[in-house]
Amino acid sequence: MEQWTDAHGANAVKRPNRRVRDPYARAVWEGNPDSLRVGATYPIFLLTDDLPNCKGGLIMGVASIISIVNQKGGTGKTTSCVNLGVDLAHEGKRVLLVDCDPQASLTISLGHPQPDELPITLADLMGNVLRSETINPGDGILHHEEGVDILPSSIALAGMEVSLVNAMSRETTLKHVLANYSKDYDHILLDCSPSLGMLTINALAASDRIIIPVQAQYLSIKGVEQLLNTVVRVKRNINRKLKIDGVLLTMVDSRTNNSREISALLRETYGSKIKVFDAEIPRSIRAAEISAEGKSIFAHDPDGKLEEFSLVV
Ligand SMILES: Nc1ncnc2c1ncn2[C@@H]1O[C@H](COP(=O)(O)OP(=O)(O)OP(=O)(O)O)[C@@H](O)[C@H]1O
Ligand SMILES: [Mg+2]
Repeated sequence: MEQWTDAHGANAVKRPNRRVRDPYARAVWEGNPDSLRVGATYPIFLLTDDLPNCKGGLIMGVASIISIVNQKGGTGKTTSCVNLGVDLAHEGKRVLLVDCDPQASLTISLGHPQPDELPITLADLMGNVLRSETINPGDGILHHEEGVDILPSSIALAGMEVSLVNAMSRETTLKHVLANYSKDYDHILLDCSPSLGMLTINALAASDRIIIPVQAQYLSIKGVEQLLNTVVRVKRNINRKLKIDGVLLTMVDSRTNNSREISALLRETYGSKIKVFDAEIPRSIRAAEISAEGKSIFAHDPDGKLEEFSLVV
């Protein structure tokens, strides 16, 4: 028999084999709190410590987790992740950006040029999960002046990807890391690496939704098919709730015929299967400059910001 604490601090006892009819209480009972109603108070069966989204008996919202993913390099994943995240933060949302790329571009571009010197990075947290060690609240979190938090990465993540291959919960390690943070945020955005390796599979396994930034080039469009096949496999085998939010066309040069043709081709090829965002991110010298500055496009040039990111949000 286990001892539970209810919303008012009184003890309740979880009795084995007792039938629980209330669907919410049953969800807690069965260890699946996802279906609990946000903002509601559940007077019984609530154990404050065990539930990732329960504080003092009140069910907190759990973050929606969105992967920004494309196995092709340089399609604007990191730029989209930073700018979508900062835009959400401007709307008052609590946002965590997770750098899932050993290149650590997101970490570097948000003001940490030496990621290897950071005391805790994502590789450490995934290591904690693999060794069944506790992750303390706020471990590894860096605050950015533009209102977003960051879980940084470093080259150690490349080593972690190798160790995952033989690990027991190899596809869900990242998901277990994020469970420790999800009650503190409205949105968690995962900046994926340009590969379909174990780290990206972990990101897909942890996500509710994905956004696919695609550069306005012929070969970039061809790569989308392979990604969609992977998404289908992950959905079938690991994460049934995974949804594709849409394809985001980036670095569009609307003055050239080629860009316009690519945009039309993308919509024609995939438009019936998945959403292609109406908003297209234009090629902009400002977007290219910010990577070195540790800022989002909003802080870099408030008057000339890329409004297209706001449209996607
Ligand atoms: N809208 C844009 N206009 C011009 N340059 C851009 C734009 N978006 C991104 N860039 C530049 O293109 C390069 C690649 O962008 P980014 O790093 O966001 O791509 P990525 O998909 O994250 O790359 P990787 O696959 O290596 O992780 C960067 O130098 C970035 O500054
Ligand atoms: Mg990147």
